[in-house]
Amino acid sequence: MKNFQFQNPTRILFGRGYEEKVGAQVAGYSKNVLLHFGGGSIKTSGLYDRVTASLKKAGVEWVELGGVKPNPRLSLVHEGVKLCKEHKLGLILAVGGGSVIDSAKAIAMGAVIEGDVWDFYLGKGAPVDALPIGTVLTIPAAGSEASTGTVITNEEGWLKRAVNSELIYPRFSVLNPELAFSLPKFQVACGVTDIMAHLMERYFTNITHVSFTDRLLEATMKTLINLAPKVLENPQDYDAWSELMWAGTVAHNNLLDTGRVGDWASHDIEHEISGIYDIAHGAGLAVVFPAWMKHVLHHDLNRFVQWSVRVWNVEMDVFNPEAVARAGIEKMEAFFHSLGLGTQLADLEIKDDRITEMADKCTGGNTRTVGNFVKLDRAAVREILLLAQ
Ligand code: NZQ
Ligand code: ZN
Repeated sequence: MKNFQFQNPTRILFGRGYEEKVGAQVAGYSKNVLLHFGGGSIKTSGLYDRVTASLKKAGVEWVELGGVKPNPRLSLVHEGVKLCKEHKLGLILAVGGGSVIDSAKAIAMGAVIEGDVWDFYLGKGAPVDALPIGTVLTIPAAGSEASTGTVITNEEGWLKRAVNSELIYPRFSVLNPELAFSLPKFQVACGVTDIMAHLMERYFTNITHVSFTDRLLEATMKTLINLAPKVLENPQDYDAWSELMWAGTVAHNNLLDTGRVGDWASHDIEHEISGIYDIAHGAGLAVVFPAWMKHVLHHDLNRFVQWSVRVWNVEMDVFNPEAVARAGIEKMEAFFHSLGLGTQLADLEIKDDRITEMADKCTGGNTRTVGNFVKLDRAAVREILLLAQ
């Protein structure tokens, strides 16, 4: 196990009705805030009314910025930065999914600097300060409600890039499982797949003596496999949503990668796909992960065998470990299909061939590799995308 430091400062307010108390949380930081949200689901569901009533009750004033799109755009981030500076806002309250939260994090970093926040996404410098952020989560998926990450798409060149910084851990996040009841089935499927992906990115590691976190990751994957059909069948199953929502947060709040080094190549490759084609991140991961696994299988067959047997209940065959490993991958693909997602690029209706371009962008023109379990150069990323075709 590797040395590590771990601190996750995000206060979680979990359970029914917490959105009605969000005003008091916000007021602890500022009485003049940016209320940030997406394309309208929070208005249809009535969440907007409950949150704004709570802000009013706590004496908090706000400026609104809605319209965050899935794969959140840099241009809206710039608008948010301008509003924060003009109105001297002291906190950003993100009400929505990963896209809204990621956009809020970008605004939080941009509001305290003179230059363009996009530079951080290009790796030019690192943030030294940020406005505080609070969230009301409406979809278990990205884990941004308690993560150091933000992923933004620059419409100029359709480049989707990430920043990781402890400065943008949300100060608090409201997790009310009831808020997920209104999710369309497709978004449920994408969310579950993203959570699975966050667990698998961490699971496939070269670090040894990490059996404790292996077991935690396996247990979380099994929990998802068990619960996903329940919420798809009954979208109002509060008990199932509760566990799934909490699993989504813990999958990405950095607890489960303590002492180990995750891979993250599949995420980097997927970000090229959703950057160019504007597809849902989870749908892209359902395509990339099986192909990545087939590509790297022989790097550590034992790890794949352990995963197949423990997570997917594949019967052990000591004389044919490769078959055991491949059976696990097949079961994972069947699981994604059962959620209604495809596992090939063609299923995303991607027909034109921009595979070489994506492999090039992903590896900075072959100047860097992606992934840690196996380091992938441009040719390897291209092969994975070809496998996914
Ligand atoms: O915009 P609205 O109208 O709210 O609709 C959203 C959106 O269309 C809808 N939705 C959300 N909650 C709903 C709802 N509809 C009905 N009822 C509800 N309760 O769902 C759609 C997708 O929302 P989005 O926020 O895009 O989903 P998600 O949470 O999956 O976020 C995806 C983004 O997060 C990034 C992804 O790359 C992608 O851009 N990620 C962020 C990470 C992080 N910050 O740590 C890590 C992840 O790996 C991921 O890369
Ligand atoms: Zn993800």
